[in-house]
Amino acid sequence: MTRIVAIGECMVELAPCPTPDTYRAGFAGDTLNTAWYLRKMLAAEHEVAYFTAVGHDDMSQRMVAFLDAAGIVTAHIQRRHDSTVGLYMISLNNGERSFSYWRGQSAARRMLDGEGALQAALAGADMAYISGITLAILPDCDRARLLHGLQVFRDSGGKVVFDPNLRPRLWPDGAAMTGAVMQAAAVSDICLPSYEDEADWFGDATPDATAQRYRDAGVGLVVVKNGPGEIMVVADGQRVTFAPEPVLDVVDTTAAGDSFNAGFLASYLDDGDLERACVAAARLAAHVISHSGALVALDAPPLVPAPVAGA
Ligand SMILES: Nc1ncnc2c1ncn2[C@@H]1O[C@H](COP(=O)(O)OP(=O)(O)OP(=O)(O)O)[C@@H](O)[C@H]1O
Ligand SMILES: [Mg+2]
Repeated sequence: MTRIVAIGECMVELAPCPTPDTYRAGFAGDTLNTAWYLRKMLAAEHEVAYFTAVGHDDMSQRMVAFLDAAGIVTAHIQRRHDSTVGLYMISLNNGERSFSYWRGQSAARRMLDGEGALQAALAGADMAYISGITLAILPDCDRARLLHGLQVFRDSGGKVVFDPNLRPRLWPDGAAMTGAVMQAAAVSDICLPSYEDEADWFGDATPDATAQRYRDAGVGLVVVKNGPGEIMVVADGQRVTFAPEPVLDVVDTTAAGDSFNAGFLASYLDDGDLERACVAAARLAAHVISHSGALVALDAPPLVPAPVAGA
């Protein structure tokens, strides 16, 4: 049995439905998306927990109930009296999606406030999962506490998984972002960057350069995603590349990377085979981007019906 703790922010998502001025509330967030897909992909004996902070209000309670219903362990979620959960709205203009956020004061930004809460959540866990967004939302001192807590976790045998998910608008400037990302890499065992973002912010000339930079920071296993392009995995003495099947009808790329990470980890934890993990990851991501929304049921029907034989 493996116990995984994802650490980050889950937000209320308001998506236009069924008309552009009517909104349906859901829940999403990069680390939560990965936890949600991990829970779906892993056998029942494994445990997936989420560590964050919420308020005591009704929307916060609904969020925790949503995680519970998805089978995600919520026992270590912090509850704060002084704040509530963050919110984002999706706007559709001529088919183009844009996002507005209300998350600056969210409870999740204070998730490291509680003395010993992170240590309690990680006690007995095998794997911690964080992202660049987890880093971005924390005050500087709490980010340092998180990285220290993860180092202690590693020292006792835990594995740390990190998706850099570079989001410059969450940071005061590019240097703060790239500096924090490389500090997190230094306490990570597995890193899952996206080449396009890394090239923009670190100037990597090739996916190999991205992999090498994280390897040089001490990461044992680096998986470089590249949208529809080739996936590259580099580990001790191994370099695997894998071309994902083209997805002809991309409906919504939200959570492509998050679901990919879950597919990769679930398969990798199962048998340690890197190529099979790429296949599982790309297959899950292809399913997710063929449907609308971040959290897509794994048995969701294709949006475009298959052509009728002989037609
Ligand atoms: N157009 C596409 N066709 C086929 N597969 C795709 C496409 N876009 C994304 N994928 C799949 O999704 C995976 C992750 O995509 P991408 O590299 O865009 O992640 P990301 O930048 O982390 O995304 P996110 O916006 O979720 O952070 C790819 O490795 C690939 O398997
Ligand atoms: Mg990503």
